[in-house]
Amino acid sequence: MYYPEEVIEEVRSRADIVDVVGKVVHLKKMGANYFGLCPFHGEKTPSFSVNQSKQIFYCFGCGKGGDVVKFTMEYENLTFLEAVRKLADEEGYQLPEGNVSSEERQSRDLRTKLLEINKKAAVYFYDALRKPVGQLGMNYFRKRQLSDETLRVWGLGYADQTRDGLYRYLRQCGYEDAILRESGLVNFSERGAYDKFFNRVIFPIMDVNSRVIGFGGRVMGEGEPKYLNSPETRLFDKSRNLFGLCYAKKSRKKYFILCEGYMDVISMHQAGFTNAVASLGTALTEEQCRLLRRYVGEILLTYDSDGAGIKAAKRAMPMLKAVGIQSKVISMKPYKDPDEFIKAKGQEAFQERIDQAQNSFLWLIDVMKLDYDLKDPAGMTAYTNAAAEKLSEIQEAIERENYIQAVAREQMIDVNALRRLVNTMGEQRARRNSPLNEKMYQSTNFMPRTNPKKKVETALQKSEKQLVTWLSEKPELIPTVQKYIQPADISDETVRTVLELVYQQQPVNTILDRFREDEEAYEKVAAMFNGNLLPEDVDEREFKRGLEDVIRNVKMSSLNTKIANETDPRQLSELFQQQSALQGLHID
Ligand code: UTP
Ligand code: MN
Repeated sequence: MYYPEEVIEEVRSRADIVDVVGKVVHLKKMGANYFGLCPFHGEKTPSFSVNQSKQIFYCFGCGKGGDVVKFTMEYENLTFLEAVRKLADEEGYQLPEGNVSSEERQSRDLRTKLLEINKKAAVYFYDALRKPVGQLGMNYFRKRQLSDETLRVWGLGYADQTRDGLYRYLRQCGYEDAILRESGLVNFSERGAYDKFFNRVIFPIMDVNSRVIGFGGRVMGEGEPKYLNSPETRLFDKSRNLFGLCYAKKSRKKYFILCEGYMDVISMHQAGFTNAVASLGTALTEEQCRLLRRYVGEILLTYDSDGAGIKAAKRAMPMLKAVGIQSKVISMKPYKDPDEFIKAKGQEAFQERIDQAQNSFLWLIDVMKLDYDLKDPAGMTAYTNAAAEKLSEIQEAIERENYIQAVAREQMIDVNALRRLVNTMGEQRARRNSPLNEKMYQSTNFMPRTNPKKKVETALQKSEKQLVTWLSEKPELIPTVQKYIQPADISDETVRTVLELVYQQQPVNTILDRFREDEEAYEKVAAMFNGNLLPEDVDEREFKRGLEDVIRNVKMSSLNTKIANETDPRQLSELFQQQSALQGLHID
């Protein structure tokens, strides 16, 4: 962290978490907390809470939580420092420049320089395409039916065959080898410096703000690799960007079309589908999903209609769903990808395919057929069972019924038979899971589905965390609890550290800061400060009994551990005495 604590604290105190979150999530006050629909996962009932007095947020559904900076980082996809700067900016607070460490300033300068270099390189490639030396590249793009306008909008270019033309140009511009190495545009070997890209057509890759952060280069014709991409650099993080997003975000459409290739995006935009984007030659990432969520609530998938494409679509669907994006699938059959489809069938036919996009669940049921021999009655039965199994996983009764009907219709299965099968499977599943399942914990009005990522907790872990939650709510209890429980009594390392800090009466945000570097611990701590808070009308006596139970659990277990490791009989008897004293524990 390169700003001093006071500066971060100042930003935090100006940017009220309820205001910041309230700008993007509709919040409703309920008791001590505000609640809303979580922006980090899809949900229909609100389990996302914001606590104004503690200035923290927490989602009981997906487990994300933290302070206002953390929220901004997650929501806007920013680093810690970027988030601090954004918040300061919005609050009109001038961050003290002098306090930025030299390390931080260097890193910022480095990024600025790399952006400059990329821009220079993009212009170099762009110009080359339009010179005689770029004739080959121009021929290639023409063959792929790209218009002049398209070449211009996408800044397409050409890397010629000289092998060090760009390197020499950038040296002339005054850049040293060290920075050129970082740019990923030049390879250095014992024999000298060579351009990474040569004899390829060039696709500049831009970030959301239209700044060139990397390049893809395609061989003209056959050759390996077909596309060569910039390596990951300080600027270029494939997992956090999407090709075409800088234009798609301006399309003002309610949905985006997600595909695999640079050429697909460009072809679609050229045909008027300016809401197309592509993941950058890698599988879709969680960050990309969150980035997409900022712009749209629906995605049409056009993955290649081969095995790999189907696999990619299957993988993308639950990821999109997890951030609250609905997906549908556009079929490109019998063509391989949108580029080939549009070239063969044209814009109107493509629009028809968009209009016929298939709901992703029904698409999944459809592609499952490929795994069965449907001409064989046994194969057909196996397929029906598999479809019913999938249907039985749908939690919502009405939604499940709608899908049962749709599947029965599309796959020509008797609807009553299918419904019976689905119900049987649902019951079997319920029995397989323990009767003491999550429902037990979902009693209170909208207490939140439990976080699926969360591991099963022991009663002890729950008690330890509960203790911290209550103490953070009622610091006046600290002296009392301290009489019984020392941090060393806590078995969980994170909780132990937190209790220590709570005993020192450190503010919640300072405690959270301690765990900034450890995502898992950070969320656990955020959860503790948002755990089962006390209802406003809590009964004093009942609460006292609850607290006594928790103290007893924690202390008992700590004593058990000590007893197990103790060999001195006198010490042992002392420990046993402490244990029996616990039975009669009464706090005032
Ligand atoms: P495809 O092989 O499907 O190519 O790769 P394409 O988009 O249809 O390309 P054309 O039409 O033959 O020109 C899809 C995407 O995967 C990445 C690129 O981003 C490409 O657009 N890719 C592919 C690579 O990064 N490297 C490769 O060698 C191949
Ligand atoms: Mn293609």
